[in-house]
Amino acid sequence: MDEALQNRVPIDTTAYSRFEARPVTGTFGADIEGIQIAAAIDDNELFQEIRAAWVKYQVLFFREQELEPGQQLALGQKFGEIQKLGYVGSLEGFEGVWVQEYPDMYEGPVADINWHADSSFRDKPTRGSLLYAHAVPVGGGDTVWADQCAAYEDLSPAWQEFLRGLTCIHDNIANNPWRVIDEIGGKALGDMRKYLPPTEHRVVCTHPESGRQFLFVSELMAREIVGMGRQESRAVLDFLFAHQTRPEYQARLHWAPGTLALWDNYSTLHRGIFDFGQSHRLMHRVSFNTAWI
Ligand SMILES: [Fe+2]
Repeated sequence: MDEALQNRVPIDTTAYSRFEARPVTGTFGADIEGIQIAAAIDDNELFQEIRAAWVKYQVLFFREQELEPGQQLALGQKFGEIQKLGYVGSLEGFEGVWVQEYPDMYEGPVADINWHADSSFRDKPTRGSLLYAHAVPVGGGDTVWADQCAAYEDLSPAWQEFLRGLTCIHDNIANNPWRVIDEIGGKALGDMRKYLPPTEHRVVCTHPESGRQFLFVSELMAREIVGMGRQESRAVLDFLFAHQTRPEYQARLHWAPGTLALWDNYSTLHRGIFDFGQSHRLMHRVSFNTAWI
C-alpha cells in the first residue's frame, strides 16, 4: 500500500462552542449535530464557527434542518456574493435559489454525472454551495465529494513538483462537445461560448483560507494541459482523474428531506449518483462567490 496512505493521520472530531464536527472520512467532511443552521443568519458567533468548520472540513452535512428559501439565500449572502444565474432557473421571487428537480431535469442541458467543481470554467469559479433536500428517493440519489487537498498531498514529491508548473484549460463542453452541438446547434453553441469561454487555471492551487494546496482539474471540465501535445495531456489528465477520485478521498452523502450540505467548491470535486430513475428528487441550491485565488 502507498506509504502516504499508511502514514496519514486521520482528521479528528472538533468541539466548537455551539456544536461538534464529527468527521465522516479519514481526510475531510463532517457531520454537524445539534444546531439549526438558519440560526446563524442572526447569530454571528455561530456563523463564524460554522465557517471555521467549513474551512477545516471542506464539506459539512446538517440533518433535519428547517430552512425557508429566503433563509437559504440569507445564509449564502453571509458566505459571499450570490451567484444569480445558473444552469437551472431560480425559484420565483428568490433569484439565486436554483431549483434542481428530477425527473424534469433529464430533459435539460445537463444530465452529466462526471466529477467536477462547479463553474471551474469561469475566471472566478464558484466558491461554495448550500444544497438543501426537499424531496429525495428513499434509497438512491446520493451525492459524492472528493477531497482534492488529500489527493494532492498523497502524491510523490516528484509528481507534486511537476504538477505545480502546469496549467489546464477548463471548458464547460470539454467532455461532451458533440452532444451539446447535437442538442442546441452550432450557432447557439457559438453564442454561448462568447459568454462562457474556456478558462485557464493552475493545476495545483493554494486555498485562500486554509493555505493548503489542492488539485484543480476534473473529468467534466478539464480539456487539456497547456503546452502539451494531445497524447501527453491525455496521459497526465487520465492519471489525475483516476487518482483524485479514489475511494480514500470520497465522502458520500445519503440525503433525507431536510438534509443540507455546505461545500467548499475550490478544494473538493463532486458528482451526483443517478441511480433513482424517474423518482422525484427536489433540491434547492444557493451558490456563492468570493475573490478567486
Ligand atoms: Fe455540481
